[in-house]
Amino acid sequence: MDVFEAILRRRDVRNEFSGEVLDDERLTRLLRAAHSAPSVGNTQPWDFVVVQDRDTLARFAGHVGRCRDDFAASLPEDRKDTFNPIVIEGIESSGTGVVVTYDPTRGGKNILGRHTVDETGHLSVALAIQNLWLAATSEGVGVGWVSFYHEDFLKALVGVPEHVHVVAWLCVGPVTEFQTVPDLERFGWRDRRPLEDAVHRERFMN
Ligand SMILES: Cc1cc2nc3c(=O)[nH]c(=O)nc-3n(C[C@H](O)[C@H](O)[C@H](O)COP(=O)(O)O)c2cc1C
Repeated sequence: MDVFEAILRRRDVRNEFSGEVLDDERLTRLLRAAHSAPSVGNTQPWDFVVVQDRDTLARFAGHVGRCRDDFAASLPEDRKDTFNPIVIEGIESSGTGVVVTYDPTRGGKNILGRHTVDETGHLSVALAIQNLWLAATSEGVGVGWVSFYHEDFLKALVGVPEHVHVVAWLCVGPVTEFQTVPDLERFGWRDRRPLEDAVHRERFMN
């Protein structure tokens, strides 16, 4: 699969995990793709915690379910009806969670490129995630990004040190199919903006 095809086929997967647990060889290939990402000052500030213990997956799924309920309760009635049928995670059905973290101390104090824009550290980790996501797509493996959690809960669950941040829980596993239309579009939550609305020439505002 070429890179454009992987970009266009990539989906956030929640419902389509096959139930088969990803083998170590393919998982390592995906983690190597993530670890090949560009990073500010070449700091490689990411780490990956692979979680396959059924009890840990169930505990995280329970926490995410409670966060989902809190979000649903915060919505106006019409949005609640749109949100309710949308599945927001495949934590147990994927069989594998990859917790991606960001260590702001990696590389010491003088990070080449981060001295004026601190967010470049977090952005580097996002690029590692996107690498993994595209590599997974090209192998017929699904990825679903879960952000319905409280960071302290997840840090305690998988033993992340105090100074390290959690960036994502990724559900990773073989899929039966990739949807062609993102779930949030299919269920009427939000559509992709036209490219013309996102591209500006010379100045953002005239
Ligand atoms: C930072 C980030 C956090 C996300 N968190 C969630 C989440 O908690 N649950 C979920 O179902 N999808 C989550 N998503 C996936 C988006 O909903 C999805 O990417 C978007 O709807 C577009 O769909 P597509 O990825 O299939 O193109 C997240 C995506 C990103 C980039």
